[in-house]
Amino acid sequence: MAVLIDGKAVAAELRAQLREAVQQLWQERGIRPGLALLLVGDNPASQVYVRSKARACQEVGFVSIVEHLPATSSQDHVLDYIRRWNADPAIHGILVQLPLPRHIDEHAVLLAIDPRKDVDGFHPENMGRLVLGLPGFVPCTPAGILELLRRYVGPLAGKHVVVVGRSNIVGKPVANLLLQKTPTANAVVTVCHTGAADLVPFTRQADVLIVAMGVARAIRAEHVKEGAVVIDVGINRIVDPETGKERLVGDVHFEEVLPKVSAITPVPGGVGPMTIAMLLWNTYRAATGQIWNR
Ligand SMILES: NC(=O)c1ccc[n+]([C@@H]2O[C@H](COP(=O)([O-])OP(=O)(O)OC[C@H]3O[C@@H](n4cnc5c(N)ncnc54)[C@H](OP(=O)(O)O)[C@@H]3O)[C@@H](O)[C@H]2O)c1
Repeated sequence: MAVLIDGKAVAAELRAQLREAVQQLWQERGIRPGLALLLVGDNPASQVYVRSKARACQEVGFVSIVEHLPATSSQDHVLDYIRRWNADPAIHGILVQLPLPRHIDEHAVLLAIDPRKDVDGFHPENMGRLVLGLPGFVPCTPAGILELLRRYVGPLAGKHVVVVGRSNIVGKPVANLLLQKTPTANAVVTVCHTGAADLVPFTRQADVLIVAMGVARAIRAEHVKEGAVVIDVGINRIVDPETGKERLVGDVHFEEVLPKVSAITPVPGGVGPMTIAMLLWNTYRAATGQIWNR
């Protein structure tokens, strides 16, 4: 019987711990963590994400600012906000919701964020630190995946982890974290992408299979080894052929894979809730200077 990896419950526990830590921080040091969220344009999914991040901030006792700019905003206008927040001591974390409208250079915007306030961990300095195994902000979804693996699987030393997807926000950072020579990681890591003509020979070798493809239910029973642990990062909206209603599914065909695996994350309720919990913890660490005290 496969174990369901309950990201929702772990995230709730992490948020409850954080609520207490925030109260203590306020009582002892008079600091309330502050997160600034910047949304440019009207992408409906982005609006939902920003709203839920702001709500999560409120629930744990953070101050949050949401700035919603029109899609026509100039890059300079966006950069003005970043510069202002970089200089504002009450703002400890800055998050720019991606994707940005095409006329804005995403790289230039991420580069403008002070790395000490880069709670998404997308600044090249934090990415470089991650690859080098130095302290820094770790992107939230990969951090959430590592926390779930730590709790449900334990040490990964010598295990073969196969990651499908090489995005800068999930695939690359999670692969790099898992290959670090640390007690919790130290895995043998393979990364797959569309360059692979056939995924099966790679994914079937995985003790732990992490899928971040963005293709609904692409990973089938044939892709998975008996007894593997499967982490499904995908969030895809499909119309259910049986009910005719929209629903969320992962990149893994859950029902087909379930009888073969030893543990699996459901969608929703697996990796998704962990992402926001990690964002909150990153912001708390930014406020307390835990990461960048050099
Ligand atoms: N749970 C969360 O909090 C969370 C957070 C972030 C993302 N997500 C979800 O996770 C999924 C992935 O997101 P992302 O931003 O990492 O995706 P992305 O930027 O679209 O990257 C997808 C990656 O998968 C690879 N890929 C796509 N189809 C493939 C195929 N048929 N065979 C092999 N590789 C294939 C692509 O390869 P190439 O590089 O060769 O194109 C690419 O590297 C999405 O569903 C997204 O919504 C969830």
